[in-house]
Parts: sequence; C-alpha cells; structure tokens
Amino acid sequence: MEYLGSPLKIGRMTVNNRIVLPPMATAGSSDDGKVTEQLIRYYLEKADGGATGLIITEHAFVSQEGKASDRQLSIADDSAIEGLKALTEAVHVEGSKIAAQINHAGGNTRRELTGLDPMGPSMQTDFPKIQPEREMTGEDIDKVVCDFAESAKRAVRAGFDAVEIHSAHGYLLNQFYSPLSNKRSDAYGGPIENRVRLHLRVIQAVREAVGEIPVFLRLGSIDTVPGGSTIKDAVDASVLFEKAGIDLLDISGGLTGFIRTDVQSAYFADVTREIKKHVRIPILLTGGISSGREAEALLREGAADLIGVGRAMLRDSKWSEKALAEKE
Ligand SMILES: Cc1cc2nc3c(=O)[nH]c(=O)nc-3n(C[C@H](O)[C@H](O)[C@H](O)COP(=O)(O)O)c2cc1C
Repeated sequence: MEYLGSPLKIGRMTVNNRIVLPPMATAGSSDDGKVTEQLIRYYLEKADGGATGLIITEHAFVSQEGKASDRQLSIADDSAIEGLKALTEAVHVEGSKIAAQINHAGGNTRRELTGLDPMGPSMQTDFPKIQPEREMTGEDIDKVVCDFAESAKRAVRAGFDAVEIHSAHGYLLNQFYSPLSNKRSDAYGGPIENRVRLHLRVIQAVREAVGEIPVFLRLGSIDTVPGGSTIKDAVDASVLFEKAGIDLLDISGGLTGFIRTDVQSAYFADVTREIKKHVRIPILLTGGISSGREAEALLREGAADLIGVGRAMLRDSKWSEKALAEKE
C-alpha cells in the first residue's frame, strides 16, 4: 500500500502512515469523565501495534455547560490530566500518535445533564434537533474561547501530540457555522466570515495555548438538507482556517451527522476533493470507508491525505495491520 503506508508531516509532527482512528465516543468507558483502565486497553487495541498511525480520542468536554452526554470524557479541569497522561503514554509505546478532540455541546445537550440552560448562537433554529434555551451573550462567547484554550493546555500537559477542535455533528461550533442554527444579526451571524468568527477566535486562543503543537479542526462541512451549509461554505471556511494556522482539516458532516444516505461510501469525498483545490494543509477524510484498497485509491487519486476508519475498526481492531498488508 504505497500511499496508505507512507509517512506524513503534519505541522511539526510526523505520522508513520495515513491510517487514522477517528474520534468515537465510547459511551461508558470513562468514570465520571476520567480515563479508566478499560479505556486505555481499548485505545491500545485500536493502536494495533502502531499500525494505526494516528488516534484521535473521543470528544472531551471543555466545560460543564459544554458536556454532551453522560459518562463523556472530560478535559474541563486539571484533575483530568493524570488519567489522560497515562493514556497518551500507553499509546506512544505502541508507536502511534495521539490527538485529543475537545468539544463544547452548545445547544445540543440537556439541562438535566449539565445543570445549566443549554445555550447556542440563537434560540430559534431551522433544525428541530437543536433548540437552545438561551442565546449566547458576548460574555458567554468569551468564556467558550477561554475554555477551549485552557482545555488545549491540559491536552499538552497530558502529552497529546495534537489537539482537535470539534466543529461537526451539531455541537456548538457547528451551530455557529450552519445557517440553519445560526440566526444571529451581530458579527457572529450572517455571511460565512461571520459564522466562523468564533472558530477563528478559538483557533487563535488554542494556538497561543499550545505553542508549536499541531492544531486540527473537525469541520461539519455540509448539512444535507435544504438551506444548510454547502460545499462552498466548507471551502470558504477552510481557506480562513488555514490562514488562521490550522495544521489539518478533518472533514465530516454537519447538523445532519456523520453518515449520508445519498452516498454509498467515502461520504465526504466530494467535499474534500473541492477543499483540496483551495488549501495546502493535509485533509483527513472519514465516513463509509471500510477497505484498505478503497483507502489507497482515495489517497492515490488525491481526494485526501489521510483516511479515517471508524466503525470498521470498531468491528476489527486488526483493521490497520490487515489493510497495510492488502494487495492492491
Ligand atoms: C459510536 C460512535 C461514536 C462517535 N463519536 C464521535 C465523537 O466523539 N466525535 C466525533 O467527531 N465523531 C464521532 N463519531 C463519528 C466518527 O468519528 C466517524 O466520523 C463516523 O463513524 C463515520 O466514519 P465510519 O464510516 O468510518 O464509521 C462517532 C461515531 C460512532 C460510530
């Protein structure tokens, strides 16, 4: 596997190959937000003796109000660091790189879970699944920027090789990006430049917090419903993110999630092909890819620079090793 097996430099980090375990919430493997032995064992298994070049850990919440689900991993205070450090050290022994995905749920959570009113860019949305109970003020926005930066610092202290800002699948940053959930009339709403203003602030604050460590952004590129975000939005946003210093763009779906029913496999290849015409940073493509041959063909064609394999790796922890050994 000429392409799949080749190393890649991402910012100052080099991964051994192009295979990525994308972030996947393990739902229940953490204990009150803390890393458990069971969670470490799970990620070690997925590292597959280093055959998985890069692991991106499941979304961790940056603040109590940004928590998305019960038993979600936390990176919201310093007590999380010790467990996360044990995790990164274990994965490093295998030879894989490990990045931390950090997230704020915004209006996509419940008061019973956080103890606070779910907040978002606007109360009224055109997307029934996301209905925040409070519109965010300037102060709320400042706090979110700060919470992302503080969490990124913790990720560095815990030994992660990179940090990924989550802006996909209907969570807070995705809510700002999508015209279906962002109805603001201030500097954070309206044209795409405004809808990614919060992202650009978060990117700058995270960059200052982590120094030279690579910073990724997972973009919920398109909403596959009328009136939602488009490939053009994704391209325009990607150009701005690259300019702001993002080292890798991880492309997935928006409010409508990470699976598409209108496309059979490599769900977001149409988006990554277009983005790649406009930016130079590496692009990670995930969604519906299940064989090494398919991954190799996408890389060869230039549709992406790295390939994420989620559910196929959940089914088979030896996926990476087998894919690298597949005959083209
Ligand atoms: C059980 C499960 C949990 C997931 N949790 C997350 C998550 O925490 N963060 C995220 O960005 N994506 C998450 N995803 C989406 C995956 O990263 C990936 O984009 C999706 O599974 C599509 O890729 P696949 O077809 O290779 O599985 C999750 C997916 C699954 C199946």
